[in-house]
Amino acid sequence: MDVDNIFIEWKNEYLVENQKIDSEHKKLFEIARKANSIYLEKDKEKQKTSLGYVVDELYSYVNIHFTNEEEYMSSIKYPLLQEHRLLHKNLLEMLNFISLNLPMLSVSKSGGKLYDFVQNVFVKHIIEEDTRLVNYINENKLH
Ligand SMILES: [Fe+2]
Ligand SMILES: [Fe+2]
Repeated sequence: MDVDNIFIEWKNEYLVENQKIDSEHKKLFEIARKANSIYLEKDKEKQKTSLGYVVDELYSYVNIHFTNEEEYMSSIKYPLLQEHRLLHKNLLEMLNFISLNLPMLSVSKSGGKLYDFVQNVFVKHIIEEDTRLVNYINENKLH
């Protein structure tokens, strides 16, 4: 699915049937929307400050979420856990790079590193990878 240039909107089809994980995903969508609307701010100073806040918020929330999600996957013996861990590790590295390069980061929509990460990598991970859990849960009647 190509999620480029669409508004980041939560849909119930993204539910993975675990209350904690689902509410964390909804919260992450909120942060993602916030991150991707920063380029709309006209005041450059305000823009830089918001950028710092939102990257911090995303980074710390993502860290907590990945740990919780991996714990949940492990508790239901999800067979793709190892490869999923690697996907998380990659996402954290990208986010870390963004965080370290914050002062040089362009805030634009096209070519903006944060915008690109959130829109094309991060939200896509939830929509395409996390939702694969549901197939496993249904196949094994785990709910
Ligand atoms: Fe997730
Ligand atoms: Fe995940």
